[in-house]
Amino acid sequence: MEARPLSAPYETYLHMLVDLHRLMAPARYLEIGVNEGHSLACAGSGTRLLGVDPAPRVVSLDHPDWSIVEATSEAFFRERDVSDLLGGPVDLAFVDGLHHFEVALADVLSMEPHAHPGTVVLVHDALPIDKPTSERDRSSVVWSGDVWKAVVLLRRHRPDLTVTTMDVSPTGMAVITGFGEVVDHSWVGPAVRGLMDADYGDLVAMGVERSLGVRPGTPAVLADLLPARNP
Ligand SMILES: C[S@@+](CC[C@H](N)C(=O)[O-])C[C@H]1O[C@@H](n2cnc3c(N)ncnc32)[C@H](O)[C@@H]1O
Repeated sequence: MEARPLSAPYETYLHMLVDLHRLMAPARYLEIGVNEGHSLACAGSGTRLLGVDPAPRVVSLDHPDWSIVEATSEAFFRERDVSDLLGGPVDLAFVDGLHHFEVALADVLSMEPHAHPGTVVLVHDALPIDKPTSERDRSSVVWSGDVWKAVVLLRRHRPDLTVTTMDVSPTGMAVITGFGEVVDHSWVGPAVRGLMDADYGDLVAMGVERSLGVRPGTPAVLADLLPARNP
């Protein structure tokens, strides 16, 4: 098969996820929001998979080591220990649960104690298409919600992390690296309240590219974003 050029964009976020699993070969993978299991199915057979979803619709998965906890991410992080369940820290995580920014942000910060310097955390739906698809209340088939605000806040309040939004179809994927510091989360409450009423027009006014750190959704960019060390 012909190798695809590193500058050609991934067709979709799932193609990017497959490539990331290939590049990282993570031992432990956490996914928030599994739905029918399409993104879980991107993992290689050597990765232990843990999914979290209050209403999973995964019927079967052709993989030797997977489990799903039926719960909201909020309840999951409150009641369960991720590292215990996975048998060690999280190498790769994918946040794709409730499309409300305060929940996506809490998902990232709640898994932070289970991350290490080589951990990569992805946040789906970081790059909204337009106003209707980026509303908090769903009114369209493609729906990113206001997850973009989580990216704005992480870029604003967590300079220790590298937070980049890759422009992959349909609604972008944030790639977060640089975990490992013990950090103060006291900024979260006021910052969430401050952005709660912002809408797509405010994002445009702030500058989409700059506020979200947008880069092309290509293999070359993904390779550039990966931590040098993946223990
Ligand atoms: C967009 S779908 C996930 C799609 C899947 N990751 C994929 O790419 O194929 C979102 C999922 O999030 C789940 N969800 C909704 N609220 C949630 C919450 N509070 N915590 C975790 N998952 C949630 C829904 O049940 C739904 O299955």
